[in-house]
Amino acid sequence: MISRRATEWTKVSFNHGAQNAYDPATNPNGIVSFANAENWLVIEDITDFINTHNQFDKLLSVYGEGFTGTRRLRSAMANHLNKHLKPVQDIDPEQITFGAGVTSLNEVCALITCNPDSQESIMLGRPVYGAFAFDLTMRTGVTLEYVDVGDTDQFSPDCVAGYEAGFEAAKARGVSIKALILCNPHNPLGQCYPRETLEGLMRFCAAKKIHLISDEIYALSVYKRRDGLSEEFTSVRAIDPTGIIDPSLVHVLYGMSKDFSGAGMRLGCVVSQNADFTKATRATCRFNSPSQFSMDLAAKLLEDQDYVAKFLDKSQGLLSQSRSLAEELLTEAGIQFHQRGNAGFFLWLDMAPYLPTNETDGDGWAAERLLSRRFAEAGVMMSAGEPYKAPSPGKFRFVFCIKEDAMREGVRRISQVLTQK
Ligand SMILES: Cc1ncc(COP(=O)(O)O)c(C=O)c1O
Repeated sequence: MISRRATEWTKVSFNHGAQNAYDPATNPNGIVSFANAENWLVIEDITDFINTHNQFDKLLSVYGEGFTGTRRLRSAMANHLNKHLKPVQDIDPEQITFGAGVTSLNEVCALITCNPDSQESIMLGRPVYGAFAFDLTMRTGVTLEYVDVGDTDQFSPDCVAGYEAGFEAAKARGVSIKALILCNPHNPLGQCYPRETLEGLMRFCAAKKIHLISDEIYALSVYKRRDGLSEEFTSVRAIDPTGIIDPSLVHVLYGMSKDFSGAGMRLGCVVSQNADFTKATRATCRFNSPSQFSMDLAAKLLEDQDYVAKFLDKSQGLLSQSRSLAEELLTEAGIQFHQRGNAGFFLWLDMAPYLPTNETDGDGWAAERLLSRRFAEAGVMMSAGEPYKAPSPGKFRFVFCIKEDAMREGVRRISQVLTQK
């Protein structure tokens, strides 16, 4: 016998074991994955850095300074964020708490902002990063309110009206919203929120007395588009809260997984100016503490800002190139995609014209699932729009920062599936 909640968890599964990944030379029939948001374009660079810096002190073999970020790492991260996020008020190392990845800190944010069993909820615009649906709810008892803020233009200041309507609709159902989570730069749309929109959302959160949690894990994976339509990234910490919002309601999430192609490090942090929020985070992070080895390597990396500058410059150049290649291949294959965006690792595809709705009695979502299964059978993986709460069926998230040969092979397989039906 297992508990009721554990019985629910038996329905959930994540990667566990061998991947059967495509390799043109050694595994040509392996799976091409456009699913995981990993940056394979700079993976050799980060690995080289790690291999030349993995001299560990014996103190790293014990609990050391504890579970939530060494002073050395917190100082290095504060310095890094002060340089790159350009906060209005410098980020102090004491505002930073580390956990084993932003995934775990997203859960922590839900635990800290909402009371379970009290109809308290977190609001998000949609479409949005699909794993929020698990990460914020699975163990917390918190519910989510997805708000319609326009199919793909969540970024204009007009989106505030959508959040306002969503907040009131939830209230009318007895649901009390406690936080708004933003993903900036946005996953899956790859866009950055303009300053004006962020200010509007900060005012909204202040008026409703709710937390604003900004997941900025792609903050430095922002690149210049070849056609020039590039947007600047603005952190919520780069906006002066004076007269807008109490800074103790504003929290930022950041980590090593994306900008440093270091998801295997399992290192994320929350930056908060709210002392109680930070204390409670530190208490819960006992259960999702990062390893001392990862913290040591990350500190060495972030301390070397000359290396970081070169690394980011290379990464951003390659992201731009890889996106252009993906656009070319997809266009040749007759696949449409969201044209905006200059951040993150993905393109938001529109496969609605290819949905096999004639095989699903016109049910678009069932057709999306069927198409997704067909891609998997053809050896190509992509996240479908449904878990991302896409407003309409047929959307897929295509991660473009994989090696060129794998991308070409993957698009060939996608194209084959689409032309067969
Ligand atoms: C928006 C966003 N937040 C968090 C994560 C997870 O980050 P981590 O690897 O630090 O758990 C991802 C990974 O895809 C993401 O896209």
